[in-house]
Amino acid sequence: MRNIGMLRALVLALAVAAAAAAEKRRTYIVHMAKSAMPAEYADHAEWYGASLRSVSASASAAKMLYAYDTVLHGFSARLTPQEASDLASAEGVLAVNPEARYELHTTRTPEFLGIAGQGLSPQSGTAGDVVVGVLDTGVWPESKSYDDAGLAEVPAWWKGQCEAGPGFDASAACNRKLVGARFFSKGYEAAMGPMDTDRESRSPLDDDGHGTHTSSTAAGAAVPGASLFGFAAGTARGMAPRARVAAYKVCWLGGCFSSDILAGMDAAVADGCGVLSLSLGGGAADYSRDSVAIGAFAATEQNVLVSCSAGNAGPGSSTLSNVAPWITTVGAGTLDRDFPAYVVLGDGKNYTGVSLYAGKPLPSAPIPIVYAANASNSTAGNLCMPGTLVPEKVAGKIVVCDRGVSARVQKGLVVRDAGGAGMVLSNTAANGQELVADAHLLPAAGVGETEGTAIKSYVASAPNPTATVVVAGTEVGVRPSPVVAAFSSRGPNMVTPEILKPDMIAPGVNILASWTGKAGPTGLAADTRRVGFNIISGTSMSCPHVSGLAALLRSAHPEWSPAAVRSALMTTAYASYSGGSSLLDAATGGMATPFDYGAGHVDPARALDPGLVYDLGTRDYVDFLCALKYSSTMIAAVARSREYACAENKTYSVGALNYPSFSVAYSTANGDGGGDSATVTHTRTLTNVGGAGTYKASTSLAAAKGVAVDVEPAELEFTSVGEKKSYTVRFTSKSQPSGTAGFGRLVWSDGKHSVASPIAFTWT
Ligand SMILES: *[C@@H]1O[C@H](CO)[C@@H](O)[C@H](O)[C@H]1NC(C)=O
Ligand SMILES: *[C@@H]1O[C@H](CO)[C@@H](O)[C@H](O)[C@H]1NC(C)=O
Ligand SMILES: *[C@@H]1O[C@H](CO)[C@@H](O)[C@H](O)[C@H]1NC(C)=O
Ligand SMILES: *[C@@H]1O[C@H](CO)[C@@H](O)[C@H](O)[C@H]1NC(C)=O
Repeated sequence: MRNIGMLRALVLALAVAAAAAAEKRRTYIVHMAKSAMPAEYADHAEWYGASLRSVSASASAAKMLYAYDTVLHGFSARLTPQEASDLASAEGVLAVNPEARYELHTTRTPEFLGIAGQGLSPQSGTAGDVVVGVLDTGVWPESKSYDDAGLAEVPAWWKGQCEAGPGFDASAACNRKLVGARFFSKGYEAAMGPMDTDRESRSPLDDDGHGTHTSSTAAGAAVPGASLFGFAAGTARGMAPRARVAAYKVCWLGGCFSSDILAGMDAAVADGCGVLSLSLGGGAADYSRDSVAIGAFAATEQNVLVSCSAGNAGPGSSTLSNVAPWITTVGAGTLDRDFPAYVVLGDGKNYTGVSLYAGKPLPSAPIPIVYAANASNSTAGNLCMPGTLVPEKVAGKIVVCDRGVSARVQKGLVVRDAGGAGMVLSNTAANGQELVADAHLLPAAGVGETEGTAIKSYVASAPNPTATVVVAGTEVGVRPSPVVAAFSSRGPNMVTPEILKPDMIAPGVNILASWTGKAGPTGLAADTRRVGFNIISGTSMSCPHVSGLAALLRSAHPEWSPAAVRSALMTTAYASYSGGSSLLDAATGGMATPFDYGAGHVDPARALDPGLVYDLGTRDYVDFLCALKYSSTMIAAVARSREYACAENKTYSVGALNYPSFSVAYSTANGDGGGDSATVTHTRTLTNVGGAGTYKASTSLAAAKGVAVDVEPAELEFTSVGEKKSYTVRFTSKSQPSGTAGFGRLVWSDGKHSVASPIAFTWT
């Protein structure tokens, strides 16, 4: 009896739990076939509402968040798993995908890029006609970067809005520079509950700083006398200082939710943005389930260039996000600027690191120094995590903390709160010699792994170890530069190995740009300092550099497609220093490869006149999806329509996508490498955007042993602008061990222009 009673209770409990799970709602993105709308509905929104009600037991529960109309046909809604699966099989529904959460990829740049003068293009006066839409944490409109002096009236075709809300006076905020400011929080609040309005603003106001930094980097006006506490002093200005900015706040303290991102992209494309900049990403997923890839497909189809950060998950390989071939994927490199700080030990040794600390300095006479691992009550005490330092062991001392897990600036706060006097932040193998400067709250220096190891060994061996930290200011002219940032995400591309990503790198380390008045430079709640400019690092910073440069190119060449603009940026990028040696990698100190930098580092002045471009249109991208064997439903989810189909009798090949770079994936599995040698063929078409000229192909394969390349024809003659010429390139390789990689470069040159493509080879 008793056992049966228990069993019954258990069964009952399980049933209740199952019912609760079934009831648990989450946000889904529902893709609809727009042309399938039955005649009885007046408009699509009405049809979407009826579709939603048809699967929902209680009409009020399955709440619609957004109806999309521009980058996606469909809507987002809170659904139970049962409702989602019912909807997936309903008439006119193409796909129902669960929402995903994305994350932010957190004055000398124009000089470094060689565009410090009057502006790049002869027609730079018309650059005002390009609006860069920045999907980020919003905007701090009081920043001088949004000063609209000298800009013409907002173009009549611009449909954007300036939305009012807490802390955001729309009539004062927007002007001829900041032409739009909107916010999208429905997905965020549906998933996380109502936002805490003491901590963030349900308005376009930037509570974080990230969005102000990225948008001012892309298109901020020139601001003389900018600096962070005197560091990096000079004129700060965006890459396209005459372009306009529209801020779409889609990222909140709890992250960036895909229903909100899609709503932001939907609005930005409809509003008339010419470039979208997204310094955010999620894990790599197949394109039919990646909201950013889906939104970017439609944006590109509507002549909008979408530039995204590659991610900060380096230096490990295959760590990229935003890899769709219609997205411009940007990694990060260093500038020729540094912020040195010296760690001088009691034994007289002097190690160089970096710091943006601006407060009262440490005494110049050395004080005691201790390794955090030996001053903590935790097993991972070396990391200076909150609550792990023992005050008696660190009081009045410099504490050596290892980088990793928690924010760098937070470790400094932990040391300060425990009574420490200063900090040496030591890289570990994960970061190597890469130095990222921070506006620490106590005297502190970040040092490379080598220096950190030497300092720790001194601390461990000296009877009474002592040290001091001297912050030295700003140094320019650092060589070599650029160097690929260790944090910058790397290839190979996990989603489509045959497409080389990232596309290029741009400055992303220690970048000065505008900041919000709502947060201190470290972003920590304890940081009550307020600054007009901040110096931060990430592919989040390199992405808006390319977004701004794309806006410059679009204004100089309004007839160029998004793919043509990207091609110009890629084929003119450089992969070696002026002396001829290859770009270096901060993670290893050795040579970087196209898996780290793609085509190389952007060179804006050359990008204006690339000679030839590799162009691409919507049909090419659909053919690419056909080559990947996407089903018609998957293609419809990406391309918004069932009208894009793959022909049954046609052979599609990823190698036929007219991409400006080459990724040659040899594999025994796909039939390329069955015998002793294998050949992979790619076809390309070049479009002349320069003058008449005869271009000759040349290849360099020094870093690809055992590979032969044959370009046919090896000479292309162009007589008029707009003329297209195709060629075939055959890559033949002897069979090589799995895991081998090799690299090369294919260059078309007419003696004046050099149209360069990186080549990456992999054997699996
Ligand atoms: C440490 O080295 C730097 C440059 O290498 C130098 O400028 C500085 O004066 C040195 N400091 C001490 C105390 O030796
Ligand atoms: C470790 O020390 C800190 C600071 O004294 C203290 O707050 C914390 O409770 C201690 N934790 C443990 C596990 O002893
Ligand atoms: C940490 O403490 C241990 C044991 O007292 C000692 O052997 C080691 O040298 C210390 N390490 C450092 C870096 O101070
Ligand atoms: C392929 O099929 C289409 C119709 O499905 C037809 O129009 C076309 O001629 C075919 N092409 C070839 C090469 O067979």
